[in-house]
Amino acid sequence: MPMRTHTCGEARDNHIGQTVALCGWVHARRSHGQGLLFLDLRDRFGITQIVLDQEDSPADVVERGEKLRLEDCVRVSGEIRARASVNPHLDTGRVEVVVKELALLSRSDPPPVIPGDEKGGLSAESVRMKHRYLDLRRPAMQKIVRTRHDVSRIARGYFHRNGFLEVETPILYKSTPEGAREFIVPSRNSPGTWYALPQSPQLFKQLLMVAGCDRYLQICRCFRDEDPRQDRQVEFSQIDLEMSFIEREDVIQTMEGFARELWGEVLGVETRPFPRLTYREAMDRYGIDRPDTRYGLELIDVSDLAARTEFRVFSEALAKETGAVKAIRVPGGADRLTRKITDGYSEFVKTFGAGGVPVTKVVSRDGGAALEGGIAKFVESIAAELITRVDAAPGDTILFGADTYAVCTKALGELRQRIARDLDMIPDGAWNFLWVVDFPMFMHDAEMGRFFAMHHPFTAPRRDQLDKFLSADAADIGAIESIVSDGYDLVVNGSEIGGGSIRIHQREVQAKVFSILGMTEAQAKEKFSFLLEALRYGPPPHGGIAFGLDRLIMHLCGTENIREVIAFPKTHTGQDLLTEAPSPVEKSQLDELYVASTWRG
Ligand code: AMO
Repeated sequence: MPMRTHTCGEARDNHIGQTVALCGWVHARRSHGQGLLFLDLRDRFGITQIVLDQEDSPADVVERGEKLRLEDCVRVSGEIRARASVNPHLDTGRVEVVVKELALLSRSDPPPVIPGDEKGGLSAESVRMKHRYLDLRRPAMQKIVRTRHDVSRIARGYFHRNGFLEVETPILYKSTPEGAREFIVPSRNSPGTWYALPQSPQLFKQLLMVAGCDRYLQICRCFRDEDPRQDRQVEFSQIDLEMSFIEREDVIQTMEGFARELWGEVLGVETRPFPRLTYREAMDRYGIDRPDTRYGLELIDVSDLAARTEFRVFSEALAKETGAVKAIRVPGGADRLTRKITDGYSEFVKTFGAGGVPVTKVVSRDGGAALEGGIAKFVESIAAELITRVDAAPGDTILFGADTYAVCTKALGELRQRIARDLDMIPDGAWNFLWVVDFPMFMHDAEMGRFFAMHHPFTAPRRDQLDKFLSADAADIGAIESIVSDGYDLVVNGSEIGGGSIRIHQREVQAKVFSILGMTEAQAKEKFSFLLEALRYGPPPHGGIAFGLDRLIMHLCGTENIREVIAFPKTHTGQDLLTEAPSPVEKSQLDELYVASTWRG
């Protein structure tokens, strides 16, 4: 008989009477005394009940079975029979194996993470990370690992059918400013020089287009030395693609087809064509470039009404250069948003630079709606128009933001998400996809006195903006900031799952972008000569996008933290608790690389 004939997830009614051999781990044990012992045997495929029974199993098998501990690795063989009491929660729940032979393949110490303990008593995350191989044995984690595999498989199938070629690009790459801080690796052969780990394969995929690859796909690893967050890791994966001879619409259609296939196959959910919002609309209405549209609470501009009041908070805000007053209507907020809660909101928005959150309630008075409480008396003169503008009814609360446009939208955008969570306004099972398009190409940072690329420096101006871009004076901040790019982000339920753009394929456009970003010609050449050179040889018009694979899995598996969907993730300080990386290295290793550490910690 082979080591195993079936997996632990396989046995069904039609196996009854067959002799099988199963291998796996002791997931649970229930000793009924008097030589009757039940084990749940688990492998990646499922769980099968195993019976060691004085009447049907050899005496030495029962005796050895009694000594088994949780997570011991064993092989059993015996006959499949119908169970006396069916377990509807298990795929194999109608049958069990009566053991004739038992072999202990390897012993387990008492495990610090108990895979059979899904509900209570799950160990602290640091323990799970340190013993990730035990944590990964948990059925919930196995499901995530499998979903991740499924997503990669579906991606490869979909993009293969659509003419994409999978091409690998280097991990040891050149240091190039692309946005985030880089990880760098010293070169032994060329002392004093460094590789960088790629933040993404952006330039290689563009070079592949110049190379005539036409449609490129890679499920690739990216490295960014940023502080990890709930949905951000220093080392993460992308489903990365690039296409030649296309326009924005082609990329959007290709990706919607992919998302439809993913959600359909993995979740059985049908998605509709995704709506589009311009960046400006997203900021105006939601205060963020990745709006969550599963609930209302939109930001409504009331600056014109606010200008007619004597309320100091409003007039001070409107006196500022891009001053704005915006309102959010919270349906039924009058009862639910207590003074304590709204005071908490005032504190909350201070984190985003706002002064506080003026509030008022809508009540019914004389057969109509009126304002009461909070700032009601300051806005009495505009009450009726305000109520109409925000479409409020008695029982609602109206919250305000008043500051520069940037502070006001940012603060209210964050507040709206918090209110939705606090008031449990986010519907279960909703999938609100949307594209955000028409981003500005550049943002000016007044403090640093320089421009930044909103996507990355290889993003093209929208086609109708090209002349304006080429003729714009780089010193004219307003003119440069008004140029719209051909970038696009895909958002689902308020999370950015993908971003991309049509790229620059004209050398002079690329050179101008570098110069607007403050690079001298010599600096641009030093960093990007390979790109500028490649753009001399008939580059095709091209564009692409990258999906954050880990974020996709978070959505498909319903997890809150990115660490749950990566087999071997890093902590919020970028550490791998399992292998204890990063770790010091021998001085001799550094000497060989001509690297000296100045750390004196
Ligand atoms: P971008 O930087 O927008 O674009 O990244 C694309 C997508 O990758 C995911 N993502 C991350 N996921 C986890 N941890 C991180 N630190 C992290 N950073 C980004 C997000 C994001 O939408 N080369 C371009 C793509 C292109 O233009 O084609 C790029 O990397 O889901």
